[in-house]
Amino acid sequence: MRIKEISDIIFYVGVNDRVTEKFESMWPLPYGVTYNAYLVADEKVALIDTVEICEVEELLKNIRSVKGENAKIDYLIVNHMEPDHSGSIPVLAALYPEMKIVGNKLTVGMVKGYYHIDDDARYIVVGDGDTLPLGQKTLRFITTPMVHWPETMMTYIESDALLFTGDALGTFGALNGAVVDEEMNTEVYLREAYRYYSNIVGKYGMFVQRAFKKLEGLKLTTICPTHGPVWRRDIPKIMDIYQRLSKYECEDGVVIVYGSMYGNTADCAEKIAEKLADRGVRNIIVHNATHSEMSDMISDCFRYKGLIIGAPTYQGDLFPPVKTLMSALEAREVKGKAVGLFGSFTWAAGALPALRKYAESMKLDVLAEVQMKQSLNDDTEAQIEALADAIVEGMKG
Ligand code: FEO
Repeated sequence: MRIKEISDIIFYVGVNDRVTEKFESMWPLPYGVTYNAYLVADEKVALIDTVEICEVEELLKNIRSVKGENAKIDYLIVNHMEPDHSGSIPVLAALYPEMKIVGNKLTVGMVKGYYHIDDDARYIVVGDGDTLPLGQKTLRFITTPMVHWPETMMTYIESDALLFTGDALGTFGALNGAVVDEEMNTEVYLREAYRYYSNIVGKYGMFVQRAFKKLEGLKLTTICPTHGPVWRRDIPKIMDIYQRLSKYECEDGVVIVYGSMYGNTADCAEKIAEKLADRGVRNIIVHNATHSEMSDMISDCFRYKGLIIGAPTYQGDLFPPVKTLMSALEAREVKGKAVGLFGSFTWAAGALPALRKYAESMKLDVLAEVQMKQSLNDDTEAQIEALADAIVEGMKG
């Protein structure tokens, strides 16, 4: 991985991972991912975050290429303890016995819990607003709990208007040569930001908003997240995505997610899509829950205003692939949607009542429903027309 001077004496020393198939063992990485770490090579040397343990050799190589074979690190700033960033702490702590580990109280508890570094003399405990002078640069710590774990914090360097943001403003995608957005086409990273935010950080929108409020008034010209490019030119674009998604603000369009065993519920979904298209809806995304990738479905459900979910009844309940998606949406507190539901059954209706329960628990207003017995008929088609009308009308609100 290329070492890049981000700003005077501040270096990118992160790594690409094009091998891991699923982030958090769940979310596919078709374009890879980065674990970003940064070195502030001042009179005192500070490393901002580490990398996933499998990539520790690459991180060490990067540090040495900036500071030489006898590199020393005075401070390790731990902005976030999830092991994709903290995994290399024990290796660094052993290699640099003089290095102090800098974090808040919760961070220190987690380092001890995960990595059994129990010597209190190894730690510097910081709180919100505390500063750490390095020489030319001074680090200021800003606690941002639940973005994405309770201990998360950001680190600001006022002289450079530069913020190390942890997972916030991060995205999937390994870096392809360049590190800073001004030197690349960021299309794929901005597209992947929807999937990254909704899947990884999506549950914590309220906390993302709190963090952004805390940042108001800070001059920011460089954003250094733990995943994806360093942002400069596209700060407004990545900020806009995070602002909108964390406020559950939606774009025009309808997502239809359905399950189907023998094609009848699929017929219903296709008919709904046709009726929406007839009414002028131009962004219509249809997912078969058995075949579509979960992370794409979650991402689209976050992104668009209209949300129509349908499933057959299976063992008296909701068809399992759709149930899994509903649980994921419920956990992420998805809200502010124009919602339609459709269910099918052969002898006893179980799917639609189960979908209603999810909607109720998520406080979603259901604008229309379709209940289908066995297969499409004139009655079902009339219900579909009414559902399409209700969704189109509801999206205006
Ligand atoms: Fe990239 Fe929450 O760790």
